[in-house]
Amino acid sequence: MPAPRRLVVLVSGTGTLLQALLDAAAEPGYPAAAVAVGADRDGTEGVERARRAGLPTFVERMGEHPDRASWDRALLGRVRSHAPDMVVGAGFMKVVSAAFLDGIGAPMLNTHPSLLPAFPGAHAVRDALAAGVAVTGATVHRVDAGLDTGPVLGRAEVPVRPGDTATTLHERIKTQERRLLVEVIRRLARADAATASREPQT
Ligand code: GAR
Repeated sequence: MPAPRRLVVLVSGTGTLLQALLDAAAEPGYPAAAVAVGADRDGTEGVERARRAGLPTFVERMGEHPDRASWDRALLGRVRSHAPDMVVGAGFMKVVSAAFLDGIGAPMLNTHPSLLPAFPGAHAVRDALAAGVAVTGATVHRVDAGLDTGPVLGRAEVPVRPGDTATTLHERIKTQERRLLVEVIRRLARADAATASREPQT
């Protein structure tokens, strides 16, 4: 069986999506495993989850850099040092540059709490509620240089219920989002492992 694909997971919050990946990696045969977890801020439960799982962690704070480009380069260095096969934004609330995406040497995925292309940005659940949609959901997509614009890899629909608040709706979305993220990564990691096994070894 090929070695699990190496995931570097980026978080900004509670890290329940990361936890779903950690739990999946404990299943026999799951084809991907987090090898490091990074955050853009201190005190995230996501980084604590990674520490409890015995994984290396890093924090790269934007405020400690003179500008965004410098932060982005530093984050690139941190991510590359773990030689990822895939980078995963799992509740990571920062936009990375085209130079970062070119430099990581691996695809980057993101998960987002709406049915993209509807409601991109940092307030997707609140915006969907305000727009009065009957159905919203979650999207896992490949990251490009835009804001939540890359090719869609999977979507899960979640009906809006009467009386939903952003909190209740987001919790139901995250239940579907965790399942979706685990399944999309299973599919991509299997395909990546199959391609790698066909490449001549040097
Ligand atoms: C998830 O719903 C994720 O899609 C969202 O943050 C939540 C993180 O949950 N990300 C964004 O809104 C990015 N624009 P978690 O910290 O419990 O994993």
